[in-house]
Amino acid sequence: MSVITEVKQRLDIVEFISEYVTLQKAGRNFKGLCPFHSEKHASFFVFPEQQSWHCFGACGAGGDIFSFIMKKEGVDFGQALRLLAQRGGVTLSPREGPSKAEDEKKERLFQISEAAAEYYYHILSATKTGATARSYLAKRNVVPETIKEFRLGFSPDAWETIKNYLLGKGYTEKELVEAGLIIEKEEGGSYDRFRNRLMFPICDIQGRVTGFGARVLDDSLPKYINSPQTPIFDKSNSLYGIDKAKSAIRKKDLVIIVEGYMDVLPAHQHDWKNVVGSMGTSLTEKQVEGIKRLTNNITLALDADLAGEEATLRGKAILAYSNIEANVILLPPGKDPDEVIGEELALWQKLVEQAMPIMDFAFQSVMSKVDTNKARDKSLAVQKLLPSIYEIRDPVQQSHYLKRLARELKIEESAIRAALRESRAGRKRPQPGKPTEQSPIARQFMSSPIEEYCLSLLLQYPELRPLAGEVSPEHFEYTENREVFVKWQHSSDIPSLESKLDTSLLEHLYCLVGKNFPPDIRESEQKRHRNLDDCILRLKEKLFRKLETEKEATLEIEREKGGISSELAKLEEQGIDSGLKLQEIFVKKEKNHGFN
Ligand code: UTP
Ligand code: MN
Repeated sequence: MSVITEVKQRLDIVEFISEYVTLQKAGRNFKGLCPFHSEKHASFFVFPEQQSWHCFGACGAGGDIFSFIMKKEGVDFGQALRLLAQRGGVTLSPREGPSKAEDEKKERLFQISEAAAEYYYHILSATKTGATARSYLAKRNVVPETIKEFRLGFSPDAWETIKNYLLGKGYTEKELVEAGLIIEKEEGGSYDRFRNRLMFPICDIQGRVTGFGARVLDDSLPKYINSPQTPIFDKSNSLYGIDKAKSAIRKKDLVIIVEGYMDVLPAHQHDWKNVVGSMGTSLTEKQVEGIKRLTNNITLALDADLAGEEATLRGKAILAYSNIEANVILLPPGKDPDEVIGEELALWQKLVEQAMPIMDFAFQSVMSKVDTNKARDKSLAVQKLLPSIYEIRDPVQQSHYLKRLARELKIEESAIRAALRESRAGRKRPQPGKPTEQSPIARQFMSSPIEEYCLSLLLQYPELRPLAGEVSPEHFEYTENREVFVKWQHSSDIPSLESKLDTSLLEHLYCLVGKNFPPDIRESEQKRHRNLDDCILRLKEKLFRKLETEKEATLEIEREKGGISSELAKLEEQGIDSGLKLQEIFVKKEKNHGFN
């Protein structure tokens, strides 16, 4: 049995979700207020028989125990598996999780970082040493509540303060070096990394301190220093304030990304709690992955001084995601969000509302600088815009911008497409390759044959990719399949998919990749196409059926209680909707079978 199945068997979804949501019995099922959006009437249901959950309200989300914890805690599949395995008393083999020693080491580093944050906070808020930093923050309008919420701190102007404090707590010098808090001298000995600086603890989405940003209190340089990469801190994977912003991001279904630590603070202070900081660098795919678990809408607040192409580079990682809405806010020249929010809150509100799609912004800014009658300028514009267009993974959107570029430059679209092909060849994005040879690992448990059949086809026959456009993650009910599908959408071949997947899912992946298809499928591309089409139809049908059953169950309860509440009316409305869709599918299916 795979650990994923074992975890699902050991834990009861009702019991588990009850810890997060007050559930009431409703017939054979349970209901409560949805934890993912604000609502007054309970439209969040848990179904013990299917071990699934679904929200019939605004967010419409649903899934199994894995997707619940992933959404609730904002963690990825691997972290969810670790959390659930721990709860269910399932031991993960080293293959499925980091070794115990590594785990323990990380745990120690988290403790050290936590202790350091506490110490720096104490110095800032309660000692004479912290007085200058306190008045600095006051001068910049950061109020004590914000200092407390973000646990800002101060590192004293001395060489061995945090070092001695933490050694006194029983941590070793080696551990402090590993945590990035002290630096080893070549000639032996060590000293505090952060001295005489305002301290910003950086937390992961679960609120654990992973590292620090540290600002000088005057104009000296470097203005900020940050923790180095450590086993628990990776700047490219962190977003400042994400732990405090996650529930607002989910509720508003939007994240606003600013650059600086000092921009996040005033935003939160003025109740813009869906704001996080990118810490001055371009957005990375890892950051986007994390955000995607909370929302599909990203707005980047960018410096006016950044040229358009630079701006798109900042957001380049987003373009690869077809279902993410990426907008930019252009700040007034010379101002950062900190100043706009502090001086003109209404303007900030307006800027957020008027954010424009990132590619439109890039076009506007590049086109305003070139003369489209000049040949040289034409190729310059192509050079500047093509790299971003190249990144767009959604073929429809990519085509839209290629056409627009051709139109605005008054050149043949074919010329631009040729340039695109060239840059493709030059940049060598990995081409869809053959699946790696792996002997299939026997597994006793198939979660859903149809989901897995579909995935096996897609994984083994890259030529089918364009046909999968209509398939979306929600068609995969089982989180392990959903994970493989989502990561596959963003990988061009099996090796890159392998590198994106949590190690606990590799066995599942190899099983899918190793599935043996009968000769007619192996030999006929046409047959494969038809099979996949059929699969997709069945996946859709399965999803609608599932929604139907769930809705029927909830309707039944409402009826038992008598009277049609507004909720019921809403459900019935939805019921009719999806009933119609189901009918559509059947009609299409019958037609298809007529062909066969
Ligand atoms: P900013 O210079 O805009 O800083 O850099 P800020 O946060 O607005 O700070 P104030 O308003 O000048 O006090 C944006 C972000 O870039 C990173 C930091 O994360 C900073 O918040 N940065 C900047 C560094 O890591 N190192 C630096 O030397 C400068
Ligand atoms: Mn600033």
